[in-house]
Amino acid sequence: MKQKILVAREVFPEALERLRQHFEVEDNQADAILGVAGLKARLADKAGVLTAATDPMTAEVIAAAPSLKAVCNFAVGYNNIDLAACTRAGVMATNTPGVLDDTTADLAWALLMASARRLPAAERWLRNGEWKSWQFIQWLGSDVHHATLGILGMGRIGQTVARRALGFDMKVIYHNRSRLPADKEAACRASFVDKETLLRESDFLVLLLPYSPESHHTIGAPELALMKPAAHLINVARGGIVDDEALISALRQHRLAGAGLDVFEGEPKFNPGFLELDNVALTPHIGSSSRATRMAMAMTAADNLIAALSGRRPPNLLNPEVL
Ligand code: DGY
Repeated sequence: MKQKILVAREVFPEALERLRQHFEVEDNQADAILGVAGLKARLADKAGVLTAATDPMTAEVIAAAPSLKAVCNFAVGYNNIDLAACTRAGVMATNTPGVLDDTTADLAWALLMASARRLPAAERWLRNGEWKSWQFIQWLGSDVHHATLGILGMGRIGQTVARRALGFDMKVIYHNRSRLPADKEAACRASFVDKETLLRESDFLVLLLPYSPESHHTIGAPELALMKPAAHLINVARGGIVDDEALISALRQHRLAGAGLDVFEGEPKFNPGFLELDNVALTPHIGSSSRATRMAMAMTAADNLIAALSGRRPPNLLNPEVL
């Protein structure tokens, strides 16, 4: 008899097809947000679950799923999973690293360029019919080339963002929990600095650290105060890493030139103060959202689940201590 699994959000039919070859699959192609109650109800008899970053795999949900052996996120971030609770319950947890590095780095650059050259506000102005004459001193932005790019969180995506800076002849500095090996630093021509230097010297600061209680409000009022008034802040990591209220205040008072944000505290709700600002580019958490990459993420998660439930070590196991 096939083991039962749940796919907690809508995914590509190709991923469901692959899973159906191995399991009895309950899907959620209607894409209802299940939440704690919905997950508890559906996981009571399931051996595995494919989850998105929006699915709260809390200790309470895991305790309500006595047959659960694997939680496989189709996301690289896994702050929606209580990893310690999984480990205590002997449940494997996996994510999808690697396959989304380039796509997410591309969006970081799109937001960086949009913020530097004020694209959202300029486009709104044009669409609103406000363009009456071309003017020499109009819509002046910031140069990206030869500027200093700072990266906070220098994992795979951070390094991918850094390598793209070579084409813009930028100086690249970074801060990370641990310094990269020399060959990796050389590959992206990046120099390690302390966090304060990073904040003070970056013209463009890109955040790429994982969210955890420790990284909550890593960028708040004190950190924003250290940044150059001409600097831009780009967040494609997770909401909650930035204190959104403090950022809105800095942008409103032009203590920071601009921001490009793909993630927000409490998303999909977000602070309406952002909508009143002309110096911020906003996107709805689409960092990894190209068709090819989302397909690769779904297939990677499916492969992790197939491995986990057939007695093999899943390629992207987050808690190897369960084995
Ligand atoms: C990720 O992979 O973590 C993206 O943010 C999508 O959830």
